[in-house]
Amino acid sequence: MQETIKPPAEVLYEKQLKALREEDTGSRPPHWLLSPRSVRDFIIGREQPALLEGREIAITRKFYGNDVLIERAIVTLAGNRGLMLVGEPGTAKTMLSELLSAAISGTSLNTVQGTAGTTEDMIKYSWNYAMLLDQGPSEAALVPSPLYHGMKHGVLTRFEEITRCPAEVQDSLISILSDKVMSIPELEGGVLFAKPGFNIIATANIHDKGVNEMSGALKRRFNFETIRPIANMTMEAEIIVSQSRTLLEHSGVEVEVDRGVVELLATTFMELRQGISREGYKLEMPQATLSTAEAVSVYVQSAMTSYYYEGGTIGLDRLVQNMLGTIAKENEKDLGILKSYFAKVVKARAGEDELWKALYEEKRWIG
Ligand SMILES: Nc1ncnc2c1ncn2[C@@H]1O[C@H](COP(=O)(O)OP(=O)(O)O)[C@@H](O)[C@H]1O
Ligand SMILES: [Mg+2]
Repeated sequence: MQETIKPPAEVLYEKQLKALREEDTGSRPPHWLLSPRSVRDFIIGREQPALLEGREIAITRKFYGNDVLIERAIVTLAGNRGLMLVGEPGTAKTMLSELLSAAISGTSLNTVQGTAGTTEDMIKYSWNYAMLLDQGPSEAALVPSPLYHGMKHGVLTRFEEITRCPAEVQDSLISILSDKVMSIPELEGGVLFAKPGFNIIATANIHDKGVNEMSGALKRRFNFETIRPIANMTMEAEIIVSQSRTLLEHSGVEVEVDRGVVELLATTFMELRQGISREGYKLEMPQATLSTAEAVSVYVQSAMTSYYYEGGTIGLDRLVQNMLGTIAKENEKDLGILKSYFAKVVKARAGEDELWKALYEEKRWIG
């Protein structure tokens, strides 16, 4: 495998996917590489390893949370409607859509990235103008979009951040999703019929929703699944540990991930996100997004800083410095909220627990 900063899911989990494919005898929707049952196992993991060339390959859990939602999402993709994953930033919508595409179609790279500048050409097709001028419109001169490719070859197409696109661009998906055809008026008899296996997985951030409210017509072509932030501290800590380990390894930083510090971080994030301490006190909630992804980034950043400047494992001074950057980056009010979290919650625990005490001692960084 070639070195890359972030290998796609199908490369990262190549062995698991191969092993599952080899043993899979379940019935598969047309053109799927795995049965729905194996796709589910790939995403939520299972106890029993799979066999590849006589070796046991562990099928690890990749998405933590609602397992029934995963089963529904998979079945949606085998049906007639697209799959729309909505939720707050950092809830693993993108990750989940990559895992689904990698497992079902063997690639997670067939992707349209939605932005305010996305045009209909980018969703459907454009032209190689030199060829177009030279020979007139022909299939050879047509430059397919990921969606075109997906329809032509029967593979899943991911559509990231769909609600950021202008409404009329979003609406060009309506006929594609309902009739599974794309017309190409420039070519004689130009109609592209979608092959079985094609479908769309779109993602949208709840906070962006108001920007370009989706039309009702398009909404009806999707099954919506709302992904919620993780509500269980232990589970969140587990994700932070495993993701941080992978990221640090990738950056060539050879340090163990400190489970105690991760739990401290996960607790802080969860309490501030939910506006309640584990003792049951009401807390003010910062406006900043406190997702698991942000927690992973705070941990990795802090561990790297300690590694490069102190040559050691993660220091709580570094943790607080980076927490400050994440939690209080958006406005002054959030800074006040973090201060009062330290003054109330952290201080109270400092009397009973060494780690919380050490955290409290770093409160000078928040001023
Ligand atoms: N429920 C979860 N299970 C596993 N990892 C998660 C979960 N929630 C967040 N993460 C972590 O956070 C990262 C953020 O993911 P991303 O897919 O970019 O979020 P989104 O697209 O929802 O903004 C994931 O790559 C993963 O590391
Ligand atoms: Mg995303």
